[in-house]
Order: sequence, then structure tokens, then C-alpha cells
Amino acid sequence: MSDAFYMRWREMNRTEIVRVENLKKYFPVEKSFLEKLLTRTRGFIRAVDDITFSVLRGEVFTLAGESGCGKTTTGKIILGLVPPTSGRVFFRDREITNLKPEELRLLRRRMQIIFQDPYASFNPRMKIGDAIGHPLEIHGLASGLEKRKKVLSMLERVGLTPPEQFIELYPHQLSGGQRQRAAIARSLILNPEFIVADEPVSMIDVSLRTTIIDLMLDLKRELQLTYLFITHDLAVAKYISDRVAIMYLGKIVEMGEKEEIFSNPLHPYTQALLSAIPVPNPDRKRRIIELKGEVPSAIRIPMGCRFHPRCPFAEEACQKEEPELTVVSASHLVACHLAKGSEHA
Ligand SMILES: Nc1ncnc2c1ncn2[C@@H]1O[C@H](COP(=O)(O)OP(=O)(O)OP(=O)(O)O)[C@@H](O)[C@H]1O
Ligand SMILES: [Mg+2]
Repeated sequence: MSDAFYMRWREMNRTEIVRVENLKKYFPVEKSFLEKLLTRTRGFIRAVDDITFSVLRGEVFTLAGESGCGKTTTGKIILGLVPPTSGRVFFRDREITNLKPEELRLLRRRMQIIFQDPYASFNPRMKIGDAIGHPLEIHGLASGLEKRKKVLSMLERVGLTPPEQFIELYPHQLSGGQRQRAAIARSLILNPEFIVADEPVSMIDVSLRTTIIDLMLDLKRELQLTYLFITHDLAVAKYISDRVAIMYLGKIVEMGEKEEIFSNPLHPYTQALLSAIPVPNPDRKRRIIELKGEVPSAIRIPMGCRFHPRCPFAEEACQKEEPELTVVSASHLVACHLAKGSEHA
């Protein structure tokens, strides 16, 4: 990513809480016995393929894109759950790329994750109160009555009331929405600063999504949190984000302020994703872009611009040269040979 853009943010005095530099994650492809005999070369899934971005304190920074583009892997690398193949991660100016287990444990207090599936992330045999209080014990921060008090107050904060009742329930006794509230409570119990929220509403009933997102936004303000929000749903991204990065096959293809991305999308991929969102006023003129074919495999990434086989505007240069993420305005970057200014929008 361009240093000019980075410097501009610095000048604007927005403090970075997390910075990711040239991050890559290549997973080796598992081969069958026969394949091992026939070929010597090792294939790799390029899940994350050289991405750089910063998350600024107090913002909601969203990674958006279709399934398999590398969103979850990026979130997990930041939290130290998956080691990167190369690249660096910083938390408040301190490099945290390859921490020792004890250092990582201490960092966990400050960075937490909310997963997509709240049911899978709870032990079915542990009461909700015990599950939420567990991190306090692991970190030696509270036990007994003090722990109970903290858990009750957190349950109340996430809207699980009366908390005395919820503390005694098992995960299966909660609805999907309530379970996700409990997962949010657990992620906040250690008083973290930074939360990776990985598709936190995609498994929740559509009618409840907005209330959970609103809860997350209220808690962000109240507790001065910063979110790295992950979603494949551009409508959700539009609702919650301050800034958005659009990923395609392991790369960021467009990034900027939410208003910029949604009102002036420059990358044909972003335009195509936006074409799929229903609009309140269907009479309003909007460019509809339909994509050709399927997302290619992350094992065989196309040469040149990795989006070119599906791009309706691809030219010769797009097949040969990979476009860099370039600054188009103070708050907008795009990686497309054809997107100069807004001429392509
Ligand atoms: N542990 C792993 N081993 C091998 N390949 C993996 C592993 N984890 C992820 N991948 C692959 O890496 C790519 C990116 O996966 P990732 O889960 O980060 O995508 P995602 O954007 O979160 O997708 P989704 O929207 O489906 O959650 C995919 O091709 C996936 O199959
Ligand atoms: Mg994912």
C-alpha cells in the first residue's frame, strides 16, 4: 500500500491501534499418495496474499468480500491464532507477529474475537455464567463473588436480563440472538480494546441482525472499543463501518471511507458486489454489473490482475500486470488499471 496514504492518516493524528504490513498466508495443499509420487512441486493456497492496512482507534474497519477471499485468516493472524507465512502485525506500535505463548496470553486481554457461530463457540456443558466468567479466572483477574458480580453486570449490559436468570442457563436454552449477546459479553469481560468480529450476525435471524449490530455499536461507544468487522454482506458493511476494505482472492482491491466506497466504487468487483444489494428506491439509476464465472481457486490465482477473467472491462494490460493499490483521493485507494479518478464509476 502506498506510504503516502499511510502518512496522511498519521498527519491527521488518528492513532492506529492495529497495523498489518505485507501480510501473507499460504497454506500447503494436502496431496494424495499418488499425487505425491507424480509431482514434486508443492501447491499452496494463497489465502492472504500481501495485504497492508491500519485500523484506527475507535473506528469500525470492515473486511468484506466473497467466501474464501481470506477475511477470517486475516483476523486470525492478527490475534495470533494462525502464524503468517510472512509480513508483520503491530498492536499500538509494538510488533506482535511472533509472540511467545505467555506474551500472547497477556495480549489476549486486550484483543478478543467474536465468532460467526455462537453455538459452536460455547461449551454445551458449561452454564452461560461460567463460560462468560471463565476468562476472568484464566487471567487471574477475579473469582468467586467478584467474578459473579462482573458477569451479572456484563449480562445486563448486553441485554440478557434478568442476569440472575441467564447466568444459570446452558447454551442450548438460549435463542440464536441471545447466544450471540452472550458471546459478545464473553469477549468483553476482560475489558479489551480491540475486537475482531467475524461475521457476528450472519447466522442470526435477519430480523434480529440490526439489534445485535446496534448493541455492538453502543458498546463500542460506551467502552471505547475498536472493531475489525468481517462480513460478506455489503449491506451490513454499509450499516456498521467507518472504513471498508474489499478483498478478492487474498488481496485488498479497494479501500477507503465507507461513504466513498459506497457512493463512488471504483473497482469493477466492488461495483459488482454493490449491484447485488437491494436499494430502497429501485427507480434510482444504478450501474448493474454482472460477474462472469466463479471465483477461481486460491491455488491457481490468475496472472496479472487476479480479477481479470471475471471483469467485464478487462484489457490487455490486465492480463499481464498486477495492479497496485493506489491512492485516488485522501480517503480512497483502488487496485485497478482502468480505475482512474471516477471515470470508471
Ligand atoms: N487451515 C487451512 N488450511 C488450508 N486452507 C485453508 C485453511 N484456512 C483457510 N483456508 C483456505 O484459505 C482461503 C481463505 O479462507 P478464509 O476462511 O480466510 O476465507 P473467508 O473470506 O473468511 O471466507 P468465508 O466468507 O467463507 O468465511 C480459502 O480458500 C480457504 O479454503
Ligand atoms: Mg470467514
